[in-house]
Amino acid sequence: MRITSRLIISLVVGITLVTFLFARSQVRAEKLGLRNDLERRASILAESIEQSIELLPDRDWRRELQRLVERFGNRERLAGVAVYGLDGRALAITPGLERRFRTSPPPAIEAMASNRGAGAFLGGGSTPMHVYAVPWHRQNLILGALAVYHDASYIEAQSARIWRDAVLRVLVQIVLVVLITLLIVRWSVHGPIARMAQWIKAQRAGQGLPSAVPDEDVFRPIAHEVAQITRSLVAARSAAEEEARLRASADSLWTAERLRVHVKDRLPEGALFVVSNREPYMHMGRDHTTELVVPASGLVTAMEPILLSCGGTWIAHGSGDADRQNVDEHSRLQVPPGEPRYTLRRVWITPEEEQGYYFGFANEGLWPLCHIAYTRPIFRAGDWEHYKNVNQKFAEAVLEEMAGTDEPYLLLQDYHFALLPRMVKRARPDARVSLFWHIPWPNSQVFGICPWQRELLDGLLGADVLGFHIQSHCNYFLETVDKVLEARIDWDHFAVERRGHRTLVRPFPISVSFTEDDAAAPPRNPYLERAQLFQRLGVEAVFLGVGVDRVDYTKGIIERFLAIERFLERYPKYRGQFTFIQIGAPSRTHIPRYAEFMAEVGAEAQRINARFQSGRWKPIVLLNRHHSHQEIVEYYRAADVCLVTSLHDGMNLVAKEFVAARGDEQGALILSRFTGASRELQDALIVNPYDTEEMATAILTALEMDPEERRARMRRMRHVVREHNIYRWAANLIGALAEVRLDQPAIVRPRALRPGAPALREVER
Ligand code: G6P
Repeated sequence: MRITSRLIISLVVGITLVTFLFARSQVRAEKLGLRNDLERRASILAESIEQSIELLPDRDWRRELQRLVERFGNRERLAGVAVYGLDGRALAITPGLERRFRTSPPPAIEAMASNRGAGAFLGGGSTPMHVYAVPWHRQNLILGALAVYHDASYIEAQSARIWRDAVLRVLVQIVLVVLITLLIVRWSVHGPIARMAQWIKAQRAGQGLPSAVPDEDVFRPIAHEVAQITRSLVAARSAAEEEARLRASADSLWTAERLRVHVKDRLPEGALFVVSNREPYMHMGRDHTTELVVPASGLVTAMEPILLSCGGTWIAHGSGDADRQNVDEHSRLQVPPGEPRYTLRRVWITPEEEQGYYFGFANEGLWPLCHIAYTRPIFRAGDWEHYKNVNQKFAEAVLEEMAGTDEPYLLLQDYHFALLPRMVKRARPDARVSLFWHIPWPNSQVFGICPWQRELLDGLLGADVLGFHIQSHCNYFLETVDKVLEARIDWDHFAVERRGHRTLVRPFPISVSFTEDDAAAPPRNPYLERAQLFQRLGVEAVFLGVGVDRVDYTKGIIERFLAIERFLERYPKYRGQFTFIQIGAPSRTHIPRYAEFMAEVGAEAQRINARFQSGRWKPIVLLNRHHSHQEIVEYYRAADVCLVTSLHDGMNLVAKEFVAARGDEQGALILSRFTGASRELQDALIVNPYDTEEMATAILTALEMDPEERRARMRRMRHVVREHNIYRWAANLIGALAEVRLDQPAIVRPRALRPGAPALREVER
């Protein structure tokens, strides 16, 4: 039976039952009231007639009695009066009273016997009758009974009226209830369900956006769940379509789905572990609320898509000031919030440790050492101690997370963890350990400045696979090992053999995800978007250049500003026309060199602006705050030219992000030859950032390039980034790890650090 019919039948039965019960009790009460009233009136009347009988004169007594009876006999609803003698026969009776009342009825007999009034309802005749009888006296002797008869049919008529009204009421209520139920069902159930069905159908057919889910009041939780399912369905369908398309075109493109399948085929469930210093999500306390921040970091940009598609555990420093309040008792949480795909394990370090390990050794020592940007590296023994201790802490966290996982895959990230490969490998020889060095590796003389170069190299060589962005960084690394340690360098296979352990050293050029959304971005109007951006910033200009960087002295931000100044000097027609927007995310501001650099950048922009600014136009707009990826993409899409002018950079993902964002195949890229990206993006305008004249010319070339050439260059660069995306990077790295022959497969390995076992720190010494 349909749900609507069931609802209506239940309502009809309910209403009928309730109305019937009410009507029955109303009839009862009404009947009782009317009967009592009739009885009261009958007794008053009978008593007054009886008094009159007593006062009748003896003369002509029978005739007087008959006259009295007839006088009283014509009142409302009074059917008649009869006076009976002791023998029960009527002495006087109202003419027309039924024949059966010519002899005394039972109440009259009872009244005579008890010398009290008695009443009863009598059926049996043509109409229901009420009789009330009292004894009548003369000279205090009971001589018979006087009976008053009332027609009681009106009481039954009144009950019947109540029943009729109740039936009518039930009918009206049923009609109304049915109508209202049908309307409610139509508006509140059928309507939303039909709309949702329509929406699901559209999704199934591949139309509409999953976000446009109808928001239907009580159906909201269902709508939410359906939206999630639909999103997964849409994602699965687009992955399947993409796969089919790639197969059909024999395309070798790597996608999130392809990587997921690739990893699933090689790794047991949950066997992927990633370690980095920077976490992908930071909880920051802001004005009594907690904000979730995705930090500005090339590393996060690159690693997140891998974890999103493959799952696993990401172990990182919990550096947000509200991080501790947002983890479970094992310092873990599931991310991304709302749609968890992997586990984030936070590692806690003290402010002193952070100062020594992160700000000190990693960023005042190794960072300037590896980036030859002419900022002097600072090496302090105290910082080195903290660096070792924090690597130790991370090793313990890694081993804890890996406990119970067979043959885990470990992807260590960057220069913060040079000692970690050896520490982990020593405790878990069955683990496949890789470390990817996201920054450049300098030549052996430069690296030789570091007082702890032997320890760093030894730590790194604990890995099975060591990755750099480009071949020359691999070569420099192998040369450094050759000079510093006793080891065999296998130049044919790019590997190091030392104490029976082999480390492969390979280039894995990192990249961005280049999603199909980027590829299929709807056509946009860059002119309109540019005008809107300028308006928002209160600037009037025609051409837009952008730069997006952490404010870091390696990024060549000042060199870029000098080139813009020179460009405006040499080509004055662009004054009032060309504006450069520098998005600069503040970074490592506790380090004096970074704080100074931030001030230098601000001062340089101000100086150049003061020199050329006129009206609402200025050459440089500096936006010194963290911008979300979505915000940055708006600038990428509106720009005529993007400037990436690093003095030295392992890869530089801004260049690749810019290319990925230009679905319209417009926009030019000026790219420093000292970035890893310049090896792949050869259609960029490649510059030497120290050469101001060359950079000024490049800006002019970018702005005045033939649109067809600009499109062709962008198309080729997009092809490169699409082919060599982050999924290929991860697949190659994981593939290389999978092929590694483990050194001691038969070793009995500890599941985790046992209490009482010597700390890794001691083992290391
Ligand atoms: C850049 C480098 C990465 C590095 C990251 C650290 O993205 O390319 O190698 O890990 O900066 O930035 P952070 O803000 O975490 O110090």
